Amino acid sequence: MITGKPLFNSQEIQAKVKELADRITKDYSGKELLAVGILKGAYMFFSDLVRAIEVPLTLDFIIASSYIKTETSGEVKMYYDIRENIQDKHVLLIDDIVDTGITLNYIRERVLARCPQSVKVCAFLDKKEKREVEIPLDYVGFEIPNEFVVGYGLDYDNKFRNLPYISIFKKRT
Ligand code: IMP
Ligand code: MG
Repeated sequence: MITGKPLFNSQEIQAKVKELADRITKDYSGKELLAVGILKGAYMFFSDLVRAIEVPLTLDFIIASSYIKTETSGEVKMYYDIRENIQDKHVLLIDDIVDTGITLNYIRERVLARCPQSVKVCAFLDKKEKREVEIPLDYVGFEIPNEFVVGYGLDYDNKFRNLPYISIFKKRT
């Protein structure tokens, strides 16, 4: 069940995306970026964000998952990884939400092991209260309370990803 009015509507989301993209454009001025979307959750945020970034970039994806319905399994499974050599690349990892931090921390360590020029992390939502693993977040859209949210790429059981807004989701009991 999706509760009440959206936590963030489409206009609020787009304004925040623009703000993040402007910061990224400024910070990477004169550099070339490898934007890496963490699928599936980040697909909508990723495509909005890269369209608003104004430095030259290439893109790739990582497919990883640790979630079953609303709970993390604690174990990260990788289904697809960056294909190209990243040793001369400035990598920006782009994710939908950081919760325990387990997934992104695992991914970041794997990417760092491949010795890129730099690695930064951009997450649209930050559920800080739930953090179990410390991970440096360079760009954050919104901090949110400890609630399960859906929409704008985020799912419950693979549903609701297509909603253009973000809402709190509660299981009907
Ligand atoms: P973490 O490893 O616990 O930080 O989980 C990160 C991943 O779990 C995110 O990239 C999401 O795909 C998923 N996730 C965490 N919290 C939520 C939520 O509230 N709604 C939907 N997906 C979530
Ligand atoms: Mg995700």
